[in-house]
Amino acid sequence: MVTDAAIKQWTILPHGGELINKVATGVWRKELLEKAQKMPVLTISDWSLSDLELIAIGGFSPLTGFMGKRDYESVLKTMRLANGIVWSIPITLPVREEDANRFEIGSTIALKGADGIIYGILQLTEKFFYDKELEAKYVYGTTDIAHPGVKKLYENGDVYLAGPIVLLNRPSHAPFEQFFLDPMETRALFKELGWKTVVGFQTRNPVHRAHEYIQKSALEMVDGLLLNPLVGETKSDDISAAIRMESYQVLLEKYYPKDRVRLVIYPAAMRYAGPREAILHALVRKNYGCTHFIVGRDHAGVGDYYGTYDAQRIFDQFGREEIGIEILKFEHSFYCKKCGQMATAKTCPHTKEDHIHLSGTKVREMLRNGEKPPAEFSRPEVAEVLIRGLKA
Ligand code: ADX
Repeated sequence: MVTDAAIKQWTILPHGGELINKVATGVWRKELLEKAQKMPVLTISDWSLSDLELIAIGGFSPLTGFMGKRDYESVLKTMRLANGIVWSIPITLPVREEDANRFEIGSTIALKGADGIIYGILQLTEKFFYDKELEAKYVYGTTDIAHPGVKKLYENGDVYLAGPIVLLNRPSHAPFEQFFLDPMETRALFKELGWKTVVGFQTRNPVHRAHEYIQKSALEMVDGLLLNPLVGETKSDDISAAIRMESYQVLLEKYYPKDRVRLVIYPAAMRYAGPREAILHALVRKNYGCTHFIVGRDHAGVGDYYGTYDAQRIFDQFGREEIGIEILKFEHSFYCKKCGQMATAKTCPHTKEDHIHLSGTKVREMLRNGEKPPAEFSRPEVAEVLIRGLKA
């Protein structure tokens, strides 16, 4: 029998030690919502709304609000919050200068979505100008505006508003509501399933054979897999979350053991910050209750901005305890015709000519033309969903 003590022992600590919960409920929520009607209003982007939600539900624990200058600068320069806790990407609220001028320090602001709904409030403790070039260099390792993260940063307002937040209304995740869980809920789910060890998998792409291979290699070592696709903002040529979600379900149905995998969305925006984003991705999955996290080739990368294994090596700069989630590093995986199976350079003695390798761009082009990539690259059922989705 599984005892409470045993369960307690299994639970992995959230980052910083406490799972943050800034979601207002009951009377507290009602009162705040009434007060919010009279507060100055700021309309925030979908990106900021997703950050607001992730802070509130504890995905970004130990953050309790949008970062102030001290934390921001510390994160840029040292990949740590001002208190020393590891954190690799600034979580900030950018606004235009005209907007920033409307708000007084010490005031409380109602945060509205583009749909007019008040989602939360911000207690404004600070507003500060920031150096976009410096942030781009630190976070993305480049100031090239062809980089989607840098482009976004340069389009943002020039001032950051900072302070603690509260979430008053839950953003909609339709049509994926059934795949949305708070970190508190995934933690409870893992307990209920009796999973002592859980590997988290981040993806912004359909799951191809290489992804499947590394997930299943990890599953040989741990109790369960949290397939945790990012469904927030991505760059325009990435395959939409709606199409991907359908493809994940088909894949899980046909090729994965039902009792060892759960599909839960990760409602964040994609930064494409490579190594620094790999750290963020790992820490967030720790908050969701995962004990292990997969980092493969060019994790969260785009174009040629990062080295193939930079996102793995960056973890060497920190103590294992400081990261607090086991990083499973996988080499570039492929199907080898001579081996007759999926492999990596670690396990396959053959040459490149024997390996099936297709670039993401090439695969997207094939799918858009209604052409199925080889079954050694992508499961045919997955390819079918993608072709149909891209045609619609
Ligand atoms: S990501 O931008 O969200 O990292 P992607 O969906 O491409 O995008 O990758 C998900 C995870 O699988 C990442 O950890 C990535 O490093 C890993 N990965 C993707 N393709 C391969 C591959 N061929 N071999 C090994 N790891 C891979």
